[in-house]
Amino acid sequence: MRRPFIAGNWKMHKTIREAVDFAQQLITVCGQSAERMVIVAPPFTALSAVAEALRGSSIHLSAQNLHDEPAGAYTGEVSAKMLVDAGCEYAIVGHSERRALFGEKNDFIHRKLKSAISLGLLPIFCIGETLEERDKEQTFTVVEQQLKEGLNNLTTDDIRHVVIAYEPVWAIGTGRTATPEQAQGVHAYIREVIGKTYADHVSGIIAIIYGGSVNPGNIGGLMAQPDIDGVLVGGASLDIESFIKIIQF
Ligand code: PGA
Repeated sequence: MRRPFIAGNWKMHKTIREAVDFAQQLITVCGQSAERMVIVAPPFTALSAVAEALRGSSIHLSAQNLHDEPAGAYTGEVSAKMLVDAGCEYAIVGHSERRALFGEKNDFIHRKLKSAISLGLLPIFCIGETLEERDKEQTFTVVEQQLKEGLNNLTTDDIRHVVIAYEPVWAIGTGRTATPEQAQGVHAYIREVIGKTYADHVSGIIAIIYGGSVNPGNIGGLMAQPDIDGVLVGGASLDIESFIKIIQF
């Protein structure tokens, strides 16, 4: 089994002080865990301070977004180089909130993936269908298109660095999780697409994680599935006790 990958996406929550306090509490409980890969994604403003707090622990830092250009006149944006400079090892790319609220399309997401990888930043690449698409039985088509256009012929060497997050849009922040079987079905399909596009040995090592209303009560069932390698947690990662329960599922 691939090492469980548990990431907390804090979205637009927590001041610098709150983020650092959280990181320190997390370190006391699971700061040296070799069995679980634990990642937190604070807002941009708290990245450097949390990086400092996590130094020497086994907990990793992720950004929630990046811009694809290395520098330039892009008011309000942050580049991969800046994120590495702030201490990030990972960056979430193509989250459904970025796609839906900020109009991000697959080609822009692809450029972000390339930019992140070129600077050694590991992308957590999000894909997933809306409720309407699921109801029309378009889940596999949508996910495959997002995968193909997002990855868009990244090399085998590049793809090894990508974590894929399957996040059905209808399950995000709604309290309505995909059942473990529904999630497993899509994860297995994603692995099959990666296997066909690259090679079976690549699809075998790549981490595919699930996101959408993950909580301490449903983590066990999700992680029992053979193709679910971890989770991307929003709401339930904001509270230290519930996040720790998820990490220690
Ligand atoms: P949620 O968010 O756990 O609050 O549903 C998940 C995500 O958006 O990554």
